Amino acid sequence: MDANDSIAYLNGEFLPLSKARISPLDRGFIYGDGVYEVIPVYGRRVFRWEDHLRRLDHSLDGIRLPNPYTHAQWTQIIRELVQRGAHEDQSLYLQVTRGVAKRDHAFPKGVPATVFLMTNALSVPTQEAVDAGVAAISLPDNRWLRCNLKTTSLLPNVLLRQLAIDAGAVEAVLLRDGLLTEGAASNIFLVKDGVLLVPPKSHLTLPGITYDVVLELAQKDGMRYEIREVSEAELRSAQELWLSSSTREVLAITRLDDKAVGNGRPGPLFRRMYTLFQELKAQVRRAPEPQMHA
Ligand code: PDD
Repeated sequence: MDANDSIAYLNGEFLPLSKARISPLDRGFIYGDGVYEVIPVYGRRVFRWEDHLRRLDHSLDGIRLPNPYTHAQWTQIIRELVQRGAHEDQSLYLQVTRGVAKRDHAFPKGVPATVFLMTNALSVPTQEAVDAGVAAISLPDNRWLRCNLKTTSLLPNVLLRQLAIDAGAVEAVLLRDGLLTEGAASNIFLVKDGVLLVPPKSHLTLPGITYDVVLELAQKDGMRYEIREVSEAELRSAQELWLSSSTREVLAITRLDDKAVGNGRPGPLFRRMYTLFQELKAQVRRAPEPQMHA
């Protein structure tokens, strides 16, 4: 096996990613009929595994696909994948689709789900991005009304994110009916009058695991925060703007639509939150092994 090859798991078998084969009739390929998770691993400790597993259950329920494995089976697979992975810090990708069947929109009967996982080196934002912040653009949120499900049907997100890339930015900040929803692949926080604001969880946003972590850290640190709807005017006059996700942690957005956010530098609350997040990661790395829930 090529040392650079990722480790994968496909329907009961661990194998090099380059050897994994899936039928073109897989409903994940034909319809995007599946759900997924992206899970960070720090020092071979799976971060918030139980929360990811709970969200996976919720997504599977939402698309009416029975979970093919018990929680104990999932935990066993994840543990083995992490041990086989080449890196101490990993990004786990997990996907469950409605399996392989003759093309027909109706659910197939008696067809086993396809279960695919892979592990790769976790690549977190560069120090430069952390220190300087990143650019984002705002766009109308034209996704469907079930954004709380983490489905593999990501074409709207892909198109929105690409518009941001085309504009020299890294993320699209989405607005629906004059209110902030989230990013194309992240949750969005802002600071107004020294208070951290974030929209509530609803069918219009993905319930981010990092979103929960940020709020927990804010609470423990005595940072003032409010979970409430955020208007477009508030977004545009924010003192600070952040994005959060499992792979990008917390990152300051310092330009929105080519205008500086606040003074154009990552703000004091962001810097505090970034430090808290790095401290939490360090704690996770020091936790006794095997550690499946942080
Ligand atoms: N995306 N909202 C959307 C639309 C997302 O795609 C993501 C993450 C988040 C943040 O969720 P979490 O904190 O659990 O990563 C919010 C992942 C990382 C992805 O698709 O690659």
